[in-house]
Amino acid sequence: MRRRHFLGLTAAALPAAALLRNRIPVEAAERAPLIIPPEFKPNGKRLVGKELRTEIAPGRQATVWTVTTGEPRPTGVTIRTRTGDSASVLFQNDLRQTSILHWHGLSVPEKADGHPRLAIGTGEQYRYAFPVKNRAGTYWYHSHPHHMTGEQVYRGMAGLFLINDADEDALGLPRGAREIPVLLGERRFDASGEFAFNPVMHERMEGFFGSDVFVNGIKDPTHNVDSALYRLRVVNATPSRIHRLGLSTGAQMTLIGVDGGLLPAPIRVDYVELGTGERADLLVDFSGMAVGSKVMLKSLPYKPPYAMAMGMGMGRMGAGGNPQGTELDLLEFVVTKAVTERGWAARPFPAIAPIASATASRTREFVMQSAMMQHTINGKAFEMDRIDEVVPFGATEIWRFSNPSQFPHPVHLHEVQFQVLSRTGGRAALFPWEGGWKDTVMVYPGETVEVIATFDQHRGRYLMHCHNLVHEDGGMMMNYEIK
Ligand code: C2O
Ligand code: CU
Ligand code: CU
Repeated sequence: MRRRHFLGLTAAALPAAALLRNRIPVEAAERAPLIIPPEFKPNGKRLVGKELRTEIAPGRQATVWTVTTGEPRPTGVTIRTRTGDSASVLFQNDLRQTSILHWHGLSVPEKADGHPRLAIGTGEQYRYAFPVKNRAGTYWYHSHPHHMTGEQVYRGMAGLFLINDADEDALGLPRGAREIPVLLGERRFDASGEFAFNPVMHERMEGFFGSDVFVNGIKDPTHNVDSALYRLRVVNATPSRIHRLGLSTGAQMTLIGVDGGLLPAPIRVDYVELGTGERADLLVDFSGMAVGSKVMLKSLPYKPPYAMAMGMGMGRMGAGGNPQGTELDLLEFVVTKAVTERGWAARPFPAIAPIASATASRTREFVMQSAMMQHTINGKAFEMDRIDEVVPFGATEIWRFSNPSQFPHPVHLHEVQFQVLSRTGGRAALFPWEGGWKDTVMVYPGETVEVIATFDQHRGRYLMHCHNLVHEDGGMMMNYEIK
């Protein structure tokens, strides 16, 4: 496999003193206004993948690689459409690397799925056209070139893809300025203040972690709100972090949806855990709060399952960034306007019929292994043209993922939404954020997770992979064909 990021002068090759000297000094704790990326309908729009310099905080510029309709912004534009509409997008790759866009969570024809073998060169264009089949939900897009997804997504090649439908409209959820996209990222800076992406040996196993939090491409953001109910569309677009999202006030949030749209009913939660690729559709209530009140959306501290094994010893030499499980301030809300309005009244959510296990024609087993500098599925690293599994069109199947490794694996399937049936070993439980429809599920070390899906939308070649972007680029990915 290619190792282009890992050759040359990596941080590991520098003496520790040089690393310390190169650290950017901590600045005053002034937070930057969040940006809300502009929304576009996918009606023939040209989206350009581009390297550009833009503000990531007031008075501070950096180079990002992002998806834009022209203007320099630190994050990808938001695409918004409706179930049943048709989507058409022209992707133009102005990056200096090959690239291709993937619509994460959407069921689309093979040609529109952004498989890495479809990647285009610099200056080339790729036209996507597909009917929007998915129900309302918080989907997203990101680039997906072979071995370079991690670096490209890290540098900003990602955005939200929101779908609305009539069922969701009927619920009267907060919208307009009361609906906030929250694309979570993180970066590390090099000596010149640019984003560094250079996983050292240990990070090629565990994953790559930033030293600084970014939301919608803005470092340490803040956002002014009314004293009212808000809807947050949260996407974990970090390379490797598992966020435990909660509020600084300790107040509960209402989880209304996950990867594949609304849950069958809203659930009050203290926190929600999201691995890379997973989404949470959250209601956060600022009503009754005095003007001047501040609420921080945080990543609450937790103990990662592999802390003992791979803690701070020699294994982490040269690694940087905030370790997995670090308490982080993500997005600050400041109540700047008091309003009194009638609260949102929960109405019945659209039902979700469980897929019965008995309807599955077979169970497939997948062993997700990270060991000896290799990331594999059933002992094999990804090969572009090898079809690893063939699924008969129309079949319902159970896919069972087990994780004998030391690291968590957020496992993702292209093309289908699945239901999570069970988790044994490890945490041995299913969580509120694993109800409804999912396309990515977290498998901790020692766990076995079963999901069930029906493969009845398109025939063609799709991917299953770990969404820790370092694992994915390192080979923990396979082709499956629906035939
Ligand atoms: Cu976010 Cu291959 O996917
Ligand atoms: Cu995907
Ligand atoms: Cu993994």
